[in-house]
Amino acid sequence: VTALDELDTPSVIVDLDVLERNISRMADRARAAGVRLRPHAKTHKVPELGRLQLAAGATGISLAKTGEAEVFAEAGFDDIFLAYPIVGAGKGRRLLALSDRLRLAVGVDSIEGAASLGSVFHAARRRIDVLLKVDCGYHRVGVAPERAVETARRLTDLPGIALRGIFTHAGHAYLAASPADIAAIAKQEGEILAATADLLRSEGLPVGEVSVGSTPTARVAMSVAGVTECRPGNYVYHDGSQVSLGTCEIEDCAMTVIATVVSVPAADRAVLDCGSKTLSSDPLRPRPGGHGGILGRTSRIESLSEEHGVVRVEPGETFRVGERVRVLPNHACVVSNLHDRIILARGDRVEGDWTVAARGRVR
Ligand SMILES: Cc1ncc(COP(=O)(O)O)c(C=O)c1O
Repeated sequence: VTALDELDTPSVIVDLDVLERNISRMADRARAAGVRLRPHAKTHKVPELGRLQLAAGATGISLAKTGEAEVFAEAGFDDIFLAYPIVGAGKGRRLLALSDRLRLAVGVDSIEGAASLGSVFHAARRRIDVLLKVDCGYHRVGVAPERAVETARRLTDLPGIALRGIFTHAGHAYLAASPADIAAIAKQEGEILAATADLLRSEGLPVGEVSVGSTPTARVAMSVAGVTECRPGNYVYHDGSQVSLGTCEIEDCAMTVIATVVSVPAADRAVLDCGSKTLSSDPLRPRPGGHGGILGRTSRIESLSEEHGVVRVEPGETFRVGERVRVLPNHACVVSNLHDRIILARGDRVEGDWTVAARGRVR
């Protein structure tokens, strides 16, 4: 297959020109801010793409799952941070095996969780590097900043644990009402973490890495004095939510889904062959707004079932059975996790494909 027209649908397409531009822009930003870039590769889960990020200047990658780290380690990646509170001796044993081959760190936000890994490493006369997660306002995981000193002190007392630094993620930026609100959240993300790092150091606790980042907040948060590292993930592809948030323009979205109109049962309704199996059912951020835009149209996917994407056809627009459309997903990271393969294109020309090697690694 050499042209997008010949691909069976639904297919996930990544435009290489846009992807390469997104990768180099973020790398330039990190260089200008003087911070290390450690992209969150859970967005794409593709070792080839991770190598492009490293070639552009990233110092390592972030991932969420132990199984994802195993795939990337196998592919030769030698510096991985699991930006997630990893818990349990079973995962500890897998991490111990990985740490023989690469520079590894994991997130922690509890003494119990850290101890479950530390005991495995201590028994092997080793230590695992950890970054303490601090909550900068998202209220998902992470210790409140005022509990950071006490928690960090107890972490440093644990056998098998080495405190490398602290990290945070301002996921609440995805619900922000405006770009100004995102900038304020980003500034807070950087300032809370930098202040927490200063506090820990003043108590004699070791804080090497001070790691922030999400795609909407990266530019502002990485510029805060004291921040050493940034972990944006989604920026490689972008998606409908980033456009709605004002993080990027539609032209900056590298990932689209080619779908076929399979039914037009009424003048105001058309059905595409991409449902939640293809797009996931993640909502549009920051406000709900259907399940995917259609390039060149104002009509959007209004509802999804597993194999059906139901389009509310706007007045003046028409869809015909057999027609092919390009869908802009709400959330690119979850789309990656649903597909074995993505098709690489430049414009309408197919350039190859990549296997989504770390997809489905939920453990
Ligand atoms: C802990 C952590 N760090 C970094 C990221 C990357 O953020 P984004 O996908 O907005 O680029 C995420 C994404 O969910 C995350 O959970």
